[in-house]
Amino acid sequence: MLPNNTIASAEAEKFALQFTSGASALVQEAMAYTLANHPKSHMASSFAQLQLLQTILSVTQPTHVLEIGTFTGVAALAMAEVLPLHATLHTIEIREEDADIAQHFFDKSNQKNQLILHRGNAATIIETLPHTWDFVFIDADKTGYIQYYDLIVPRLSKHGSIVADNVLFHGQVWQQPLKGKNPQAIVQFLEHVQADARTSQVLLTVRDGVLWIRKN
Ligand SMILES: C[S@@+](CC[C@H](N)C(=O)[O-])C[C@H]1O[C@@H](n2cnc3c(N)ncnc32)[C@H](O)[C@@H]1O
Repeated sequence: MLPNNTIASAEAEKFALQFTSGASALVQEAMAYTLANHPKSHMASSFAQLQLLQTILSVTQPTHVLEIGTFTGVAALAMAEVLPLHATLHTIEIREEDADIAQHFFDKSNQKNQLILHRGNAATIIETLPHTWDFVFIDADKTGYIQYYDLIVPRLSKHGSIVADNVLFHGQVWQQPLKGKNPQAIVQFLEHVQADARTSQVLLTVRDGVLWIRKN
């Protein structure tokens, strides 16, 4: 069973997965736990997304990685697996119950010393973290995306990049008129990034849509 949150057809997703490298035993365990026990399990990244994140980190060899929105820790676990030994991954989660699940799996990870979980609101925590970020995964409340982006861009390293998730928001972003605060927030975010001369971006139709942004 996979989280059902894809913009592509179910056939395309299944076929793509067949030719995408798999996840580690621990990531599969965290995913299986999430699917079996969490009422919002569709919020976990898909295996294709996890492989995309791992590929980006593997080729860019970051030192400081930030995830905004940990959920049950699936993406953080996968990203940590490909980090250089000296690197750290900071991840922020506002919901205590989700943070507890994530920490449980982080404690089982071979990279547990590289995984740093912050509990609380990303809007306040990001500013307290002193790092220059080499990679940031924005995957929390959609209405906060512009704020997170504006906090991060000035602190992105020269070759740093950002991936923002759910930018197709179940296909609701191209409905006219736009209905609901989340699709509206995503479209405002996309327009905000597009108008920013500091960065360039590509929107990939992987799962629910990811925007990969780099510094110019
Ligand atoms: C889509 S899930 C993250 C999924 C995770 N990145 C993954 O790939 O498995 C979004 C998470 O962001 C958290 N969240 C929402 N608003 C937040 C905020 N202001 N600060 C920190 N976390 C927040 C939610 O509680 C939820 O667990």
